[in-house]
Amino acid sequence: MNTAVLKEIVGQVGILTINRPDAMNALNDDVMNGLTLGLDEFEQNDAIHCVIITGSEKVFAAGADIAAMRNYEYIDVYRDNFITRNWERLKTFRKPTIAAVSGYALGGGCEVAMMCDMVFAADNAKFSQPEVRIATLPGAGATQRLPRSVGKAVAMDLCFTGRMLTAAEALQFGLVSRVYPKAELMHETLEQAQAIAAYSLPVLMMMKESLNRAFETPLNEGLAFERKMLYATFALEDRKEGMNAFIEKRPANFNNR
Ligand code: HXC
Repeated sequence: MNTAVLKEIVGQVGILTINRPDAMNALNDDVMNGLTLGLDEFEQNDAIHCVIITGSEKVFAAGADIAAMRNYEYIDVYRDNFITRNWERLKTFRKPTIAAVSGYALGGGCEVAMMCDMVFAADNAKFSQPEVRIATLPGAGATQRLPRSVGKAVAMDLCFTGRMLTAAEALQFGLVSRVYPKAELMHETLEQAQAIAAYSLPVLMMMKESLNRAFETPLNEGLAFERKMLYATFALEDRKEGMNAFIEKRPANFNNR
């Protein structure tokens, strides 16, 4: 059994907890395969509308497993399709995801957090891309996602120096959208995830698809895609229910169709 990732379902929220306490939650194949399988299961489960990825209070993840990587040669990583093989499931996951980060999110840990739709941090969270210190690249997405998230100057600064950001700095730079006291992070994140999960799942999925276009297309193409998704909501029973409920001054009851 893979215990490197713990799986839990609370209401309509799926929670995946990275669990390698002896190695600072370093991201080896057990962890990345565990996350991939967990996401596959949550994607197929229609009752789940939102997913939280988290670690322990002390560490979200201290990066890719350096012990596992250190003897790799070029041919090993190339032939094995390293990273691409089991690090990218979050990229294709269609429901909303939240990274709940307490403690260290370093290297690949910060990259996994950035693959999530939102990052909520505890006030003890620390973010960095320290790969420069071990002479490799932040190569699970940070050279692309970090500048899109925090802008060029901060991204270059973080990658060239490997310095750590506090939770307050991460909030200031836009890497995270919320900071909570450490003891409240999971409770608050779960509450927010449940609130999101109560909305119409197809609408959430259309929003996610449309928002992600903002990073991949020119403005006019993105706006055209958004307009198609807007029109698509008019084919949903939930859109009628949402608007009728507002006019009738009652809570909406979505059936996700
Ligand atoms: C493997 C790791 C690890 C890692 C920590 N450990 N990080 N093992 N891979 N990324 C192990 C340590 O070797 C040690 O094992 C145990 O976890 C506890 O770590 P310590 O360093 O003793 O703890 P502490 O002094 O509290 O420091 C915590 C820390 C530090 C600040 C998080 O461990 C650290 O800086 N870790 C490495 C961060 C890093 O360089 N990450 C980037 C990896 S590259 P033993 O057996 O001695 O108890 C990367 C690239 C991804 O992520 C993209 C492409 C691959």
